[in-house]
Amino acid sequence: MKPIQVGLLGVGTVGSGTFKVLARNQNEIKSRAGRGIAITMVADLDVARAQAVVGAGVTVVADARAVIANPEIDIVVELIGGYGIARQLVLEAIAAGKHVVTANKALLAVHGTEIFAAAHARGVMVAFEAAVAGGIPIIKALREGLAANSIQWIAGIINGTTNFILSEMRDKGLDFGVALKDAQRLGYAEADPTFDIEGVDAAHKATLMSAIAFGIPVQFDKAHVEGITQLAATDIKYAEQLGYRIKLLGITKRTPQGIELRVHPSLVPAKRLIANVEGAMNAVMVNGDAVGTTLYYGKGAGAEPTASAVIADLVDITRLHTADAAQRVPHLAFHPDAMSDLRV
Ligand code: HSE
Repeated sequence: MKPIQVGLLGVGTVGSGTFKVLARNQNEIKSRAGRGIAITMVADLDVARAQAVVGAGVTVVADARAVIANPEIDIVVELIGGYGIARQLVLEAIAAGKHVVTANKALLAVHGTEIFAAAHARGVMVAFEAAVAGGIPIIKALREGLAANSIQWIAGIINGTTNFILSEMRDKGLDFGVALKDAQRLGYAEADPTFDIEGVDAAHKATLMSAIAFGIPVQFDKAHVEGITQLAATDIKYAEQLGYRIKLLGITKRTPQGIELRVHPSLVPAKRLIANVEGAMNAVMVNGDAVGTTLYYGKGAGAEPTASAVIADLVDITRLHTADAAQRVPHLAFHPDAMSDLRV
């Protein structure tokens, strides 16, 4: 069967990572998806740079609309970011009958209701595993793994930049500004780091988790959002002396009065697992009535961790396209090149 055709909008850090991982693990990915997945066309304003990343076999254009207009393309991956042109392009891709995969938490947290309604009306999927906690498969955990539960609460470190800054301030006694510059240099921060340090990025992600966990519309405007810019090194030191770490937590919770959604610095007892999540790592705790508390930990940003989530969505969509029921819920995906026997 011919591979499913993917068009990529934006060949930045995550786009390049997606290309690389898809090429490196193509056989495993194909056996899990039941069909090959090929990025055949990409759009980027810097055509020459993008062409160097994707190689001569892939068509590169400057105009994203040319990708959407291509009838051969089944899935559009939006990696442009922001609320502006990305919103237009995602809506146009949906209108053209393409499935959409996006890492754009800002777009979905603010315009999700409109976008999901458009996708529903057109009968296409909008998948966004990469939008929350990078490589941690938290969307799939909430939607699939924990599907039996009445979710009670979620609390997570879902912004790597601020966790990195707080760790650097505590461990190395660095000033806020110096630690922020390091986070930017290492590629963790958003294009506009205000979103990171003011808690907005974490609130975007918490909004999406809240919507999935509690079955409510995405309502970023109702979130209480407080970042880490008001924290001084002394706050961190005093917290430490009292046996606590300060962490920026995204929290959403079922209460008798309704669903709470908030992001703010929190005092976490130092011996808790989540208090020991250091650097740019993310961790999300989910409490369900049946399962109790579960914890997910991993890289919340970066080229390949985020690509891992983008490709997982591509695999899901590809699988759902197949007529073979066993492939849609694969119990085991046999990989023809894998070692055939266990070593005993
Ligand atoms: N700026 C984000 C972070 C990137 O620091 O976690 C991943 O969403």
